[in-house]
Amino acid sequence: MRIHALPTQLINQIAAGEVVERPASVVKELLENCFDAGATQIHIDIEQGGIRVIKIRDNGCGIIKDDLPLALSRHATSKITSLKDLERVSSMGFRGEALPSISSVARLSLISRTDDADCAWKVCADGTEKDFQAQPDPHPQGTTVEVSDLFYNTPARRKFLKTEKTEFTHIENLIKKMALSRFDIGFTLIHNQREIINLRAAESQSEQEKRVANICGSAFIENAVDIDFSASGLQLSGWVGLPTYSRSQQDMQYFYVNGRLIKDRLVTHAVKQAYQDVLFHGRHPVYVLYLTLDPVLVDVNAHPTKLEVRFREGRLVHDFLFTALHRSLANLRPGEQQNNVQKIEELSQLTSQPSPPSIQQAGIQSYVPSPVQSSLPMNVAEEIDAYATLYPKDNSQLDTVSQQAKMATTVQGTQPLGHAIAHLHSIFILSETENGIILVDAHAAHERISYEKLKQQYHNGSVPSQPLLLPLKIQVSHAEADLTEQQHQFFSSLGFELNRSGPETIVLRATPAIFAKADMDTLIKDVLADIIANGMSQRILEKSNEILATIACHGSVRAKRKLTIDEMNALLREMEQTERIGQCNHGRPTWIELSTADLDKFFLRGQ
Ligand SMILES: Nc1ncnc2c1ncn2[C@@H]1O[C@H](COP(=O)(O)OP(=O)(O)OP(=O)(O)O)[C@@H](O)[C@H]1O
Ligand SMILES: [Mg+2]
Repeated sequence: MRIHALPTQLINQIAAGEVVERPASVVKELLENCFDAGATQIHIDIEQGGIRVIKIRDNGCGIIKDDLPLALSRHATSKITSLKDLERVSSMGFRGEALPSISSVARLSLISRTDDADCAWKVCADGTEKDFQAQPDPHPQGTTVEVSDLFYNTPARRKFLKTEKTEFTHIENLIKKMALSRFDIGFTLIHNQREIINLRAAESQSEQEKRVANICGSAFIENAVDIDFSASGLQLSGWVGLPTYSRSQQDMQYFYVNGRLIKDRLVTHAVKQAYQDVLFHGRHPVYVLYLTLDPVLVDVNAHPTKLEVRFREGRLVHDFLFTALHRSLANLRPGEQQNNVQKIEELSQLTSQPSPPSIQQAGIQSYVPSPVQSSLPMNVAEEIDAYATLYPKDNSQLDTVSQQAKMATTVQGTQPLGHAIAHLHSIFILSETENGIILVDAHAAHERISYEKLKQQYHNGSVPSQPLLLPLKIQVSHAEADLTEQQHQFFSSLGFELNRSGPETIVLRATPAIFAKADMDTLIKDVLADIIANGMSQRILEKSNEILATIACHGSVRAKRKLTIDEMNALLREMEQTERIGQCNHGRPTWIELSTADLDKFFLRGQ
């Protein structure tokens, strides 16, 4: 066959193959055009999963009558004029391909009106880029694009479409993701005449959080912290889930670069690293994050669908993301989280139920006042006030008591984890705080404290060590004795003075000072066994953090001994000073809070 030029419609159909996979891809292209047109309100009307009709109306700048044929022609765009523009493009579109591609595989009509035009104009297209007859139309300012019968003329493609329901789910998910990128735009989505989404433009932080809750679920926003971090001309903002609120799938991870939702391995890697030692094994973090940077630093022309980008300074972006997230996670301290209190999810469900069955479910027989009863107990705050008025003012003894109480509260003000009351079952510390009560898993908390301390000491050069009064002989396996011998230097940098004294014996002469009280025989055996089991002996230095975590875990208080009040308070104070204290090294929560409001709800006080 001789070489010949392809007909325009076929050229457009080939181009459509790259960007128009299914109805949701059409919606994406049309929404991006609305964004670029400066719309503040977008109305999306879908019929039969978008296979039958996709109609999108915006109130943006519109297109002048003479440009309508160009809008439907390949390689015609209002968004760039030169390579220089392309290299710093900040609009969503720039290829000038979406509308002609779509029109070559569906029936497309375009109605548009600019603010100074007398009326709107309507054109239809079939991908041949010929015969555009503009007709006047009563449309208000802005643009409506209607796409119907997708793939009517490309049956092979049509076969790949799934059910209406599936295709609509893709559309709905896409719109939610795009709505998270533009809080300043209102969105409505109708499917088969039924309203599915109605989001008003969200200006304030709280309105924006409402939208996030609407889209990602309120549990997400209740268990997330907002972050805003800038350095080296890069800015990262948005919400990251607490490590204790993770998921088994990577399905709630939204990352936007200059407003564009992207999937990027470098980004995923940086985030994963930042969560590394706070997340339970096999769990995935949740986040909605916005990276803003000079458009020059990111190449959006890497892929026809623009779902991938290339960072020109990949290393810089990676390290920036890691640092921003790592710090935000490290800084999660009790009492500092604005919109979230760590809670076990079930607990919050339990307390939000107004009726008593949850109490009975829990197996506790308790007196539950009936809701019609007239004088219900006051809530805790009211009751404290009421008690205060019972005491005569001139009673000096009581004055001292109340003064002491006052002092305790002031001290507590700087002590978000409050003061210890009891060590329950030799496992949990019960502490009274200004806002309620807290339960701390002493082992988990101690593990994190030891780990952070060890890491710091190790990375500062060496871990202070304390000689044992009597050297301790430990029976180990041959392989473990070998490991001890080969890694003598490494163990000594960790504060352990360990020597081999026989084929299957080692001698311990000094231990890290922070573990002076631990059961050393078990600690050493467990650590050696862990290192061998995880095959870390080859890469022992690279894996130092994992080994430190293992040591911290085995060296931390076990649930055997009752702690004294002083010991517990000391632990609480250390927790307040420790980074990443919300989770132990394995990602389990270290503490939970029941606020007075929770308690009031639970006991039906003040309702
Ligand atoms: N909703 C809209 N409001 C105003 N102008 C629009 C709208 N949709 C399209 N246009 C105009 O039509 C042109 C062509 O749109 P099209 O989506 O085909 O290309 P593009 O957005 O420039 O690039 P890309 O192919 O990367 O999307 C745009 O450059 C823009 O000028
Ligand atoms: Mg476009």
